[in-house]
Amino acid sequence: MTSTLSPEEAQRHYEANAAKQDSQAWYEDEAFRVLIACADFGGAREILEVGCGTGRLAEILLRDQLPSDARYTGIDIAPAMLARAAKRLSPFAPQVTLKPGDVTLGLTAGTATLDRVVATYLFDLLSPAHSKNLISEFHRVLKPDGLMCLASMTPQTSDGDTTILTQIWRLVQKRWPWLVGGCRPVELHALLDDKTWKVMANETVSPKGVISQILIARKIDPHTTDRDSRQ
Ligand SMILES: C[S@@+](CC[C@H](N)C(=O)[O-])C[C@H]1O[C@@H](n2cnc3c(N)ncnc32)[C@H](O)[C@@H]1O
Repeated sequence: MTSTLSPEEAQRHYEANAAKQDSQAWYEDEAFRVLIACADFGGAREILEVGCGTGRLAEILLRDQLPSDARYTGIDIAPAMLARAAKRLSPFAPQVTLKPGDVTLGLTAGTATLDRVVATYLFDLLSPAHSKNLISEFHRVLKPDGLMCLASMTPQTSDGDTTILTQIWRLVQKRWPWLVGGCRPVELHALLDDKTWKVMANETVSPKGVISQILIARKIDPHTTDRDSRQ
């Protein structure tokens, strides 16, 4: 038995639990703050967020960070999440596109068209194979100097410490994955190939004992020289 939810199971779970999603702000907001501080959204024009949920991060980005001509696209597998996101983001409607979709099947965005790809608390619930495929798709759709901006629960702080709550969460997720929406602590850096991504920021935060990792990585364009990619 696998402890990750299939996309169909995730769809059912998040469709039924959309009304509860915003109650996770107590551990997500600190990670959002660090992610925003590290990812220069003021310099972005084309942004894709996958697993956008109810649009909480998008609202902050559109209200406080993105240029007024930036275009934001949010994809989610659960229509009930998208309905909440549409309501929340209605003041920014001309800049916003929301689409239903299962991102484990790939992305429809064109190659090298995006400045930022964003996924918060999504890799926690994807299988390792789906995670690797999605990271490859992020690499394909980003422009040469585009940034991948991730936040997820993670097992350890940057100092190698863990917390009782994180340990309990792992045990619950292994046994009853649906109780925690399939989410488990994951090590985001382990998903990246250092030849194709340059890590710009890799930080952890642990409000009230839930540890999150924030990882910002720049796409290394295969056409740039080794010297360029190290800069
Ligand atoms: C834990 S919630 C996080 C929501 C939001 N990003 C946040 O940080 O508050 C995971 C989200 O990913 C969506 N999701 C799960 N599997 C997906 C898939 N295969 N494709 C697209 N969205 C998915 C769920 O519907 C849900 O909205």
